[in-house]
Amino acid sequence: MCGIFGYTGKKEAQGLVLQGLRQLEYRGYDSSGLAVQCGAEELRFEKTKGKIRNLEEVLKTNPLRGSTAIGHTRWATHGTPSQVNAHPHLDSANRIAVVHNGIIENYSRLKEKLKKEGVSFRSDTDTEVIVHLIAKYYRNNLEEAVRRAIKDIRGTYAVAVISAKEPGKIVAARFDSPLVAGVGLGENYLASDVSALLDHTRRVVFIENGEIVSLTENSMRLMDLEGRAVKRLPSKIDWNISQAKKGGFPHYMIKEIFEQPEIITAILRERIKKEKHRSAVFFEELKINRREFGKIKRVILIACGTAYHAGLVGKYILEAFTDIPVWVDTSSEFRYRNPNVDRRTLVIAISQSGETADTLAGLREAKSRGAVTLAICNVLGSSLSREARGVIYTHAGPEIAVASTKAYTAQLAVLYLLGLYLAGIFHARPRKKIQDTLKEFFRVPVLMKEVLENYKRDEKNWAKNAHDFNERYHAQLKKYFGGGAIEKKRSPNGFFLYLGRGINFPNALEGALKLKEISYIPAEGYPAGEMKHGPIALIDENPWVICLAPRSKTYDKMISNIQEIKARGGMIIPVVTRGDREIRKLDPFYSIEVPAVEEIFSPLLTVLPLQLVAYCVAREFGEDIDQPRNLAKSVTVE
Ligand code: AGP
Repeated sequence: MCGIFGYTGKKEAQGLVLQGLRQLEYRGYDSSGLAVQCGAEELRFEKTKGKIRNLEEVLKTNPLRGSTAIGHTRWATHGTPSQVNAHPHLDSANRIAVVHNGIIENYSRLKEKLKKEGVSFRSDTDTEVIVHLIAKYYRNNLEEAVRRAIKDIRGTYAVAVISAKEPGKIVAARFDSPLVAGVGLGENYLASDVSALLDHTRRVVFIENGEIVSLTENSMRLMDLEGRAVKRLPSKIDWNISQAKKGGFPHYMIKEIFEQPEIITAILRERIKKEKHRSAVFFEELKINRREFGKIKRVILIACGTAYHAGLVGKYILEAFTDIPVWVDTSSEFRYRNPNVDRRTLVIAISQSGETADTLAGLREAKSRGAVTLAICNVLGSSLSREARGVIYTHAGPEIAVASTKAYTAQLAVLYLLGLYLAGIFHARPRKKIQDTLKEFFRVPVLMKEVLENYKRDEKNWAKNAHDFNERYHAQLKKYFGGGAIEKKRSPNGFFLYLGRGINFPNALEGALKLKEISYIPAEGYPAGEMKHGPIALIDENPWVICLAPRSKTYDKMISNIQEIKARGGMIIPVVTRGDREIRKLDPFYSIEVPAVEEIFSPLLTVLPLQLVAYCVAREFGEDIDQPRNLAKSVTVE
């Protein structure tokens, strides 16, 4: 997510904007910049690739003097990280400057239209269309020009604008990208989130979707997109800065878990567009054309950790939508096993960071053997995205917590869309089936939000169950290891087993990984059908068995597995479809319900309780949830 900061008042703006951008660094970025109103009718700006210190270096020799400015830290979504793609973006006359956070879904069409009207573009960004639209509509009224420009764009935006012709004024607007104004004495502020304002004021006005705000040193006017005044009193913020960066959540992980529905919605809105009255999937940045895809005879997905689990789900997805055989490999195995790939093989490397050493090596190995390579990545301009033949970005925004959650579901969303895209290329499924599936897909983030809302309503019960587990777990430790302090020991006897079947089997692995990596409790994921081939020997009153048993063609088999575990005294925590009556007969320890959805999409729902279980147990155990021991966010070494 990009960061925006603005100031208008009597003080020198440059230093305040840099301070505000530093407070927003945690959001992740690859370039930064600012624009300042420097005296009568003049705008000056600086922007640099890389860290804010690069910008500060430039400003040391070339300070921008003025008391109204807007600044930006960019997390690239369209246009690789570079100085020219950094914000602010200015109109052709360098008299209007814009910074933006979000994705303009119809920017290609707007860009073509503006080019036909004689506008020349300097960058590859979607943002630049905004400043040229404002310039097009500008008639000495910045609020009106912004209002008209906003009505032309579709997508998500938090946008801040200054004009050389209206000194002391900042105009801003938002839709589905956060923006908040800070109320000072004889000065006013603007920021992407509260954390950047708390150095200056605790009185804030949250800008809502579809609103425009006009700031000067002594005024703050809110209006809607029709220009009608909106009344809103400032709120008093009592968070500290750290809480503010987590949006009021106690940890980044839980914040990112709750961001998932919004991210999936944004992915669908950006990637599914109407084409001749039908929905079609678009990957603008892909760079592998349909003819090349048409020659592919098999697919190999390579990744590590959570991304590998996404690849396992991807196998079910791609084989459901196409008739192409799909293999999945951990990158560390693929790169050393003399893989049998050729130019008819599509190797898809999945990676949140795009810097994982094994996955990078696997991609290079595949390329050296002539395979067509595709990266599914979250970080624009990362090594993997630059070295693969084609790339699809997940646009999940920076994932701060080491334990991957929103990147995982964003990877799944892209894999669903890729499967539907390939189904169209290979004519592998009836057109109506593809249309119906795309339509159903839009329901999924709404259902994901329901699961998370249910958790919020029942959070106390979740915490109580985590506490019960903690009590039982340490009682078992004492039983098996005798008396004395056994603080923080982890015993294989008090462990979790995760079971799933079909497209939900990979989530059993993912749930186990989530628990292991943030609570350090032994946990294992297994295909439920494998229980009789060994793991059932583990079952006595000890393990807590999380069973993924949503409505599916293997539901009855899952119920049989649960009965076998129950009969041996195991503690059952089933994840079932809302209204499931069968499971109640098995007297589970704690049933978690998810809304009904087509089986193919169920992993996007069943993974949420697994993320929440891991979070609640780790919180109960008092572990460092966002920065767990021994782990790095990106494993750039073997
Ligand atoms: C997931 O929670 C872990 N942090 C880890 O397994 C991670 O998924 C793995 O290291 C792959 O990272 P990448 O997606 O950046 O390649």
